[in-house]
Amino acid sequence: MILLNVLRNIQTTRMPVWLMRQAGRYLPEYRELRNKADGFIDFCLSPELAARATLQPIEKFGMDAAILFADILLIPFAFDQKVVFNEGGGPILEALSEEKQLGLLNWDIERLNPVFETIERVYDELDDDKALIGFSGGLWTVACYMMQGRSQPSFPKALACAQYDPEFMKFLMDALHDATLEYLGRQIEAGVDVLQIFDSHAGLLQGAFFDKYVIQPTKDLVAALKAEYPNVPVIGFPRGASLSDYEKYAAETGVDCVGLDQDVPLEFARRTLRLIKPLQGNLDPELLLKGGAPMKNEAEKIFRELGPNHIFNLGHGIIKETPPENVADLVSFVKSLTV
Ligand code: CP3
Repeated sequence: MILLNVLRNIQTTRMPVWLMRQAGRYLPEYRELRNKADGFIDFCLSPELAARATLQPIEKFGMDAAILFADILLIPFAFDQKVVFNEGGGPILEALSEEKQLGLLNWDIERLNPVFETIERVYDELDDDKALIGFSGGLWTVACYMMQGRSQPSFPKALACAQYDPEFMKFLMDALHDATLEYLGRQIEAGVDVLQIFDSHAGLLQGAFFDKYVIQPTKDLVAALKAEYPNVPVIGFPRGASLSDYEKYAAETGVDCVGLDQDVPLEFARRTLRLIKPLQGNLDPELLLKGGAPMKNEAEKIFRELGPNHIFNLGHGIIKETPPENVADLVSFVKSLTV
């Protein structure tokens, strides 16, 4: 598998490619499947539909990896926190704020059994040369949603708690560590080849807070995973982190690969981060939305600066208005770039 070769530092002749949110609303086939389920959580927990959603983009575009169709908010769901996704809008969770509510957290991994069944189905169907990626949210990012209750640009409740109520945060982060470790372990047992930790809101923190709520929890989680599953590579994605925090994340967390958002300059990636770990990502999703020459020029630049041992991906998920033709165009163009 070409994706695993990059993660294991084995020389490749082209960049493996997959795209964050490659299964999603930009695809008409996805929207059709989505309509067959009652709600989004239901969709994630229907192995037959979720397996189809996972495989659709691979069948259509030929990416080198499939990412399990699920969501980072299944962890709060398995804590028995109410989670709903409104049509078109973001998720809404029954927000946690009082300690007594936290005491009610009631983790039950069995609620996620359908996810492991989805993995088994995909594993059976996926070509041997394609990797299957499992995932979770970073603990900080999941804590943001659990405390805030909904997507916000800045998650003020989680930030205030990190600053003024470290005991409460510790309690929540410890619970999330245990839950995430168990969930990811079960994903590995079911058949995923690689894990990605999406710390989408890492960029809300800097310096000492970044150390405490992003670096340390990631390091502990990766160490615990590696103790049991030393051969399963982990990709960490501290989206929005400052460049110095990116560097620390690459050096200290123990992840095998670092995901780059579109704001990380390629030169910094090449001169600094690339010397520490293999990298993934960086293409601005807006360029994929526009398509054509500007998209290809930037993809070629990524290849020149970081390739071929770089996992080609976006800096964040595919924007839902993106024409599927642009995705087809990008994947075949990236695969044509060889040394
Ligand atoms: O193709 C894939 O990437 C695999 C599946 C996947 C989904 N969510 C499906 C999804 C993955 C890896 C995720 C991760 C996820 N979920 C993250 C981390 C990555 C990121 O985007 O920063 C986050 C923060 C979430 C939480 C989440 N899920 C939000 C904020 C939303 C609403 C906003 C949106 O983009 O719609 C979701 C819903 C969601 N998760 C959809 C999909 C395909 C759209 C739901 C729909 O069909 O209506």
